[in-house]
Amino acid sequence: MTKKIKKICCIGAGFVGGPTMAVIADKCPNIIVNVVDINKERIKNWNDKDLAKLPIFEPGLKEIIKRCRNKNLFFSSNVEEQISSADMIFISVNTPTKERGIGAGQASDLKWVEISAREISKFAKSGTIVVEKSTLPVKTAQTINNILKYSKNNEDDSNLKKKFTVLSNPEFLAEGTAINDLVNPDRVLIGGEDNEAINSLKELYLNWVDKDKILTTNLWSSELSKLIANALLAQRISSINSFSALCEATDADIKDVSLAVGLDKRIGKYFLNAGPGFGGSCFKKDILNLIYICNHYRLNEVSAYWQKVLDVNDWQQKRITTIIVDKLFGTISGKKLAIFGFAFKANTNDTRESPSKNICLELLEEGAHLSIYDPQVMNHQIAADLNMEERKLLSCDSKSGGWEKALCKEDAVKDSDAIIILTEWEEFKVIDWDLYSSLMRSPSWVFDTRYICNLKEAKNSGFNVWCVGYGK
Ligand code: NAD
Ligand code: UGA
Repeated sequence: MTKKIKKICCIGAGFVGGPTMAVIADKCPNIIVNVVDINKERIKNWNDKDLAKLPIFEPGLKEIIKRCRNKNLFFSSNVEEQISSADMIFISVNTPTKERGIGAGQASDLKWVEISAREISKFAKSGTIVVEKSTLPVKTAQTINNILKYSKNNEDDSNLKKKFTVLSNPEFLAEGTAINDLVNPDRVLIGGEDNEAINSLKELYLNWVDKDKILTTNLWSSELSKLIANALLAQRISSINSFSALCEATDADIKDVSLAVGLDKRIGKYFLNAGPGFGGSCFKKDILNLIYICNHYRLNEVSAYWQKVLDVNDWQQKRITTIIVDKLFGTISGKKLAIFGFAFKANTNDTRESPSKNICLELLEEGAHLSIYDPQVMNHQIAADLNMEERKLLSCDSKSGGWEKALCKEDAVKDSDAIIILTEWEEFKVIDWDLYSSLMRSPSWVFDTRYICNLKEAKNSGFNVWCVGYGK
């Protein structure tokens, strides 16, 4: 018989836990959804009356929070209490790359997953379904099961063990489109061995997802599919970025090439936009993890192949910095540069592994003065990422670089030598080139690393133009 789920607990109120649970609560009004996090500041922001203070910016999220919060969706730090009353627990904690010890720089750090499993083992009731929502190395369910195996129903009687079922249910949402991705997923993947538990999770999704889109596999295929999906997506970006350099060298145009090749159904049109390399918290981390796993199984050719995808990504970012310095007469020391965009992609305030951050760090190293405009990223985040406090540019000396946050695009552009477009925010697509040209020093440059500008218009207004993958 399928167990009816009445109460869910999600451990981790981050970029995945927050939006995913908000959508579940919205689509399943009869289920109580409790999202817990040890980060009290984050929980405070999730509960703030002022919806502008939500810790995550995602189009459509505010509206759902307004509808469901404190009705059937609750955010709290009562981890123990919410774990103990749940029928189903999602583990949605961070799984970053290990920084120290064995596997440092490659393997996933599963510390937070292990802590969650131990908490579940201690506080959850017998029969609770445990769902891996975090992205995990293949075989992690085994580790979680090994921890849960030692749980006891009664401290005095070690024979009275609790029973748990572990399922894998990886998340495929992309930031910036998370709500739409959750509401209309391409597929929902459930891995497991216990049909009853699988059906309980399936029933939850059937509240809004078509049954044909729900795929069930064994645990290991599910865990591994998530890593492989991210690797294949990242590989497409490295491929197109490698060709962007070839287009620049041969007077071809990467936009035409992407269109021409993408029209072949076997190739497909998505993820063929050349840019400053992929960012975000997952592609790099997940490929590193895949490399670590391949090395573990002595599949050295396979790991070398995927390492190249990461190498090309780094190379693209360094290549762009070099071009900027070259075009600006070989030195940017003391020059003001307008940076358009700091988030790793449009429609998010997330800066993890942002190509903009990496390129800004290199420009600062060259002594540039950066005036950074981004509609969503806060000053304190930029300061943390650049490891440097904000200083008004007038007070920067010309030897060491510095940065300030511009309140608007015009402030960033004024007296600058170049505009560098690093995030594809909608508002960067239409620019008053004549106005900007009059505000800037001559010769004025635009470096469009996302290929989103009207290059002809920019040239007509007197700009020198460099655009990724654009050969002329
Ligand atoms: P995140 O860092 O934004 O959120 C994780 C949260 O878990 C943090 O707020 C942290 O405080 C909390 N946490 C850690 N240990 C805890 C514990 N023991 N008890 C309670 N809370 C705890 O991370 P994220 O971006 O939401 O990613 C989470 C997982 O989902 C990762 O494995 C990631 O690879 C995967 N994923 C992320 C995305 C994405 O777009 N960000 C998409 C798909 C999958
Ligand atoms: C990605 C995947 O798309 C999700 O399916 C996955 O769930 C998620 O990782 C994860 O596991 O975390 P995300 O990183 O949020 O989602 O965003 P993407 O849209 O994939 O963009 C990643 C990076 O690639 C961004 O820096 C983006 O600008 C860049 N990109 C994307 C390109 O340079 N070109 C493209 O054509 C597409």
